[in-house]
Amino acid sequence: MIILGIETSCDETAAAVVTETGDPQHPWRILSSVVASQVEIHREWGGVVPELSARQHIRDICGVVERALADAGVEAVGYDAVAVTEGPGLVGSLLVGVSFAKSLAWSRGIPLVPVHHLAGHIESLALQNGEMPLPAVVLVVSGGHTSLYRVPAPGTYELLGRTRDDAAGEAYDKVAKLLGLGYPGGPVIDRIAGQGNDRAVAFPKTRLTHVDRNAPHLPGTRDFSFSGLKTSVLRHVTGRRETLGLAADDPPPPSEVADICASFQRVVVETLLDRLFDAAVAYSARSVGIAGGVSANSRLRAEGTARAERRDLPLFLPSLALSTDNAAMIAAAGLRRYRAGVTAGWDLNAHAALAL
Ligand code: KG4
Ligand code: ZN
Repeated sequence: MIILGIETSCDETAAAVVTETGDPQHPWRILSSVVASQVEIHREWGGVVPELSARQHIRDICGVVERALADAGVEAVGYDAVAVTEGPGLVGSLLVGVSFAKSLAWSRGIPLVPVHHLAGHIESLALQNGEMPLPAVVLVVSGGHTSLYRVPAPGTYELLGRTRDDAAGEAYDKVAKLLGLGYPGGPVIDRIAGQGNDRAVAFPKTRLTHVDRNAPHLPGTRDFSFSGLKTSVLRHVTGRRETLGLAADDPPPPSEVADICASFQRVVVETLLDRLFDAAVAYSARSVGIAGGVSANSRLRAEGTARAERRDLPLFLPSLALSTDNAAMIAAAGLRRYRAGVTAGWDLNAHAALAL
């Protein structure tokens, strides 16, 4: 079976063609994957502008899908289903992908498969590396999400914890903005942090001990919070500006910026990995995974790999191309769902706050 995946939940218009292999250990293979990034458009504004994003998806979707089909060489043989991200994300952006996928599937008379964006990130791990030994604990960490899942069986995802406020990627983006480093913040902080002292500034590590009133079914102790860290970076920078006599928008000198980036990144990475490996032990996981845009982070990858080796646990990571938003992961998750018997009707809608 060959599936076309479509992803438009945020600022990437993406389409990909993925085929089943028949090998239960490595069930899927990517035939093509095309991503049109809108980063240049949103950079000017320091973050994603939803209305601009939706309008750009409309401009790009036809070309991106045509290119994915051409690259895969499936125009003649065709494809058997269309998978699309139904949520969560920016509703105007999601609607472009959902409407396009519905029209395409209806006109070709093939099934439409709805996919949760985070299920896509989780399945990027099996797409890249083959099936994970289960049960697994997977951290999904991106610009919009920081969530910890237990995967007891293929295609089953149980939420163990999530951020109460900012996502880790969002914290990267906001700290980068504060330091005048531009958008998106993750890659640039990652690079500059390498030149700094990660013990230079003692930023706080948040540990939550109480249940979230909005999610009483979760234990709460495996939740994340990054807004306190962000505020602490802001206070530090404001203090340094005053001491050095800098103007309100001026960043501190480059060597200090490197120290701040390194110290900030150490706290983020340690917080994420502490929770991930605590949960892995608590739930007797046979493997662990890290997916989503922030999984591209060099320190998170290196320290995650080292901790996993110490515990003798296999760590699953996506390739850099599969870590940020793409449609190959949506196609893979779509194949998993289709084989589990899930398809959507022609009344499928986009859901900005869809739960997994
Ligand atoms: O998964 P993704 O492409 O989009 C969402 O679903 O949000 O993740 C984008 C996020 C951005 O916040 C970006 O700053 C972050 O991933 N990111 C990184 C790195 N590369 C991208 N964060 C830390 N280190 C990186 N190397
Ligand atoms: Zn994402």
